Amino acid sequence: MNNNLINEIRSKTDIVDIIGERIPLVARGKNFFGVCPFHDDSNPSLCVSREKQIYTCFSCHATGNVYTFLMNYDSLDFKEALKYLGERVNVDVSNVRVNKKVNKFDKLYDAYNLSLKYYQNNLLSKVGESARKYLLTRKIDNKMIKEFEIGLSLNKKDDLTKLLTNKKYDLKTLNNIGLSNDDRDIYNDRIMFPLYDVSGKVVGFSGRIYKDSNTNKYLNTKETDIFKKGEMLYHYHIAKEEARLSKSVIVMEGFMDVIRASSIGIKNTVALMGTALTKEQINLLKRLSNNIILCLDGDSAGIKATLSIGDMLEKENLEIKVISLPDPDDPDTYILNNGEEKFKNLIDSAINFSDFKLNKLKENYDFRSDQEKSEYINKVLEETKKLTDPIRIELTLKKLAKEFDIGYNTLEMRFSELKKPEVKDKKVITKPIKKTKKTKYEKAMEQILYSMLNNEDLINKVSKEKLIFPNDKSRILASEINYYYLKNGSISIPDFYTYVQDKEEIVDLLNEILAGNYMDNIKEENFSEYFKVIKDYSKNEEIKRLTVLLKKEIDPIEQAKIANEIRNLRMGE
Ligand code: UTP
Ligand code: MN
Repeated sequence: MNNNLINEIRSKTDIVDIIGERIPLVARGKNFFGVCPFHDDSNPSLCVSREKQIYTCFSCHATGNVYTFLMNYDSLDFKEALKYLGERVNVDVSNVRVNKKVNKFDKLYDAYNLSLKYYQNNLLSKVGESARKYLLTRKIDNKMIKEFEIGLSLNKKDDLTKLLTNKKYDLKTLNNIGLSNDDRDIYNDRIMFPLYDVSGKVVGFSGRIYKDSNTNKYLNTKETDIFKKGEMLYHYHIAKEEARLSKSVIVMEGFMDVIRASSIGIKNTVALMGTALTKEQINLLKRLSNNIILCLDGDSAGIKATLSIGDMLEKENLEIKVISLPDPDDPDTYILNNGEEKFKNLIDSAINFSDFKLNKLKENYDFRSDQEKSEYINKVLEETKKLTDPIRIELTLKKLAKEFDIGYNTLEMRFSELKKPEVKDKKVITKPIKKTKKTKYEKAMEQILYSMLNNEDLINKVSKEKLIFPNDKSRILASEINYYYLKNGSISIPDFYTYVQDKEEIVDLLNEILAGNYMDNIKEENFSEYFKVIKDYSKNEEIKRLTVLLKKEIDPIEQAKIANEIRNLRMGE
């Protein structure tokens, strides 16, 4: 492929934008940091450098440029990544031919899409009249119907099944993917809400009754290879972008809540669709933002869920806030009853999860009894022990002292007696990387290679001085750098990175070098120092090799030759 095109697109793209659109990044000094998506972590170990246009994870050592990031994160192949970026920066990529991947799930997606069209059509035609009336009573207008692709299944028992079998879907498939049961439709006379995967593809439905009926309010499509309820969040594909803009994400219980919030312009929302939060959903949330606002229903179930979900999220180093709604409101009914303004005020006045927890705790105690008072205070101290910010700790203790008229010192003493809660064992899956200390020679070698990528003079100096790296990988890497430079007339880390991508033998070493802490601006005289280290090392290696040879040699003439060589090498010292 055309190297110029690859480099042009790369240079017009900022890796910080591309990664920042996918995971929350925080600027620190020259670099940006975020939670690495390539291993299980909650610490910001991924470093993105605007200057070098590369990313590096200090934990799992994932490294690369914008192309490798997209290839790994968006599961694209190189050409797809190139095309995607080219289109973003208005570089003509019409000649880049992407091989159309045959996805083994295409047939499923197609079936859901056909069903979606069918349901939508029903709702908008004559048969949909009473369903549309129902939706209007719930203040869902045509604009919202369109936006959320709401539809209607009919009371005809096998309408959709027939339609799909006519399109060559066999009954077995339709049964497996949750659209039919034998030769009957699964959904009859329900308002159909499509459910989307993280990229926005329809992977199932939730059908709501809209007439008196004693069946389940909502009926969800059964789980398939592409639809696992515990691994999705409703509205995630939209919230992705919105959470980045508003730097927070709001978690709600039901999709009606999300739809309502969206109608008043609040779109950084996701719905759990059930109140238990799974590990996979936590990972999805972490990708959206570090600031999570819980806005569950105001009933006791909602409060219980807030407490348990908040506890789980708190362990992940996230900022958690809570919006409390009056019982029995959910965001949908609250917004309908109180209006946009009031709800937006609630968002602005969301409280910290730890405060929410303390408020709830309080409700369980009767402060007329000293016994219960003391139990409460001890419980608060235990909760406070989980805080890491010393200022927050002191503020909490002061508030408590004042509220119950207890000496601050007494509280403090009790507080320090309590054992710190056990720190969660952070499971960091790291690639086994040898953490052996680098020798002086290795450090010098890697620094030179690193600097060759930044400093073209050094490339010339290495060839002029005939510096030879005494190990295969570094020798190959050095010659690739040299070759790239000669061919292109200049060199930069991210472009070189693209170039060596498929050269496995050196990409590891390059990763290691880029992940190491090598200096950017080195003075000329220091290079001479590094050169000397390498040359000495090479010489010693050569002497070692010759000494072994000498011991094996039986011909006295050859022996003398080798001994002479060794002596010459030593004399050069
Ligand atoms: P809710 O009962 O709070 O839903 O359940 P809602 O949004 O208020 O529904 P409306 O306003 O009565 O229409 C929250 C979520 O739990 C799931 C759904 O995903 C719903 O959005 N749920 C609820 C089911 O899957 N099945 C049910 O029978 C009920
Ligand atoms: Mn609800």
